[in-house]
Amino acid sequence: MSKSITIVMPDDMHLHLRHSDMLDFVLRDTVKQFARAIIMPNLSVPIINTKLAVAYRDSILNSLGKIRGDLRCFEPLMTLYLTDTTTTDEILMAKESGVVFAVKLYPNSATTNSHAGVVDLFKNCSKVLDTLQRIKMPLLIHAEVSDHRVDIFDRESVYIDKVIIPLREKFPELKIVIEHVSTKEGVDYVYSSPEYTAATITPQHMLYNRNIIFSGGLRPHYYCLPILKSELHREYLVKAATSGDKRFFLGTDSAPHDVKSKENNCGCAGCYSSYNAISLYMKIFEDVGCISNLEKFASFHGADFYNLPRNKQTLTIYRNENIVPDKISFKNLNIVPLAYGETLQWSI
Ligand code: NCD
Ligand code: ZN
Repeated sequence: MSKSITIVMPDDMHLHLRHSDMLDFVLRDTVKQFARAIIMPNLSVPIINTKLAVAYRDSILNSLGKIRGDLRCFEPLMTLYLTDTTTTDEILMAKESGVVFAVKLYPNSATTNSHAGVVDLFKNCSKVLDTLQRIKMPLLIHAEVSDHRVDIFDRESVYIDKVIIPLREKFPELKIVIEHVSTKEGVDYVYSSPEYTAATITPQHMLYNRNIIFSGGLRPHYYCLPILKSELHREYLVKAATSGDKRFFLGTDSAPHDVKSKENNCGCAGCYSSYNAISLYMKIFEDVGCISNLEKFASFHGADFYNLPRNKQTLTIYRNENIVPDKISFKNLNIVPLAYGETLQWSI
């Protein structure tokens, strides 16, 4: 049994860094495991233009400056938050900036801070989509309908039928990422599509099925969006991620909320996995005997899809039994990490 494995440094292709103290906190965990991350733009003041993206990037670099020297080589890959009024000029400016790598589509009211998200994609964003296709900038999609008549467990599959399939017909070469794919239907769509489609997969959607949210009581720390699905979907996601298929890559969707906002009569959606993301993914890959495919999923497929050079640095993961803490505190923040209380076999 190997005691350690060394892989090319991974990238997290879906990360919520937040701002202020939370930013300092999340960044410390992130840089230990990831060389780069796609930074989600859903702040309370959403990152809807290049100017805001550059300012947000500066605050991330500033926070990075506070971290110990050897942990500082990290590159934030910024994204723009698409709205009904985003212009093609804004997209071109983003591309020109050299620091924006993708545009994020939140259907209006689908998730945390999506109040400014898109109401009518085809009516209001066709020109922008055309530009994205032309300049080969990926569109990252939170693929869930926000129609409250649609059952929460069906929102991804309905979105694929109603939005992704027509989108693909209109824009055959648009690069799209189905973020945090959570269903068999989502994975099957990726399998059936051309080279311009990919998907990120989170640790929570592969570690747990929806029963965990209700196991012995209501457990808010397993509530995220897309919501966890049934066992059939979980197994299907694990198969896709661990298969070595280049269309699937690592995106934690690590989305921290202070414990007060999670343990609340209307708790926020999001799991915090930056604390131990690589150990969690290791567990998933080891359990199905596919450790040899972890590097492709974590370090190659994402970079290749985004046309970025693969990282040069490496990361060594050690066999080392450890218990995930119930809570991590930083300044006034208290965060419950994913897999709290569980014993993991690997650490970095
Ligand atoms: C994310 C957040 O809190 O920003 N929450 C989540 O449950 N994943 C938003 C998102 O990615 O949907
Ligand atoms: Zn997210």
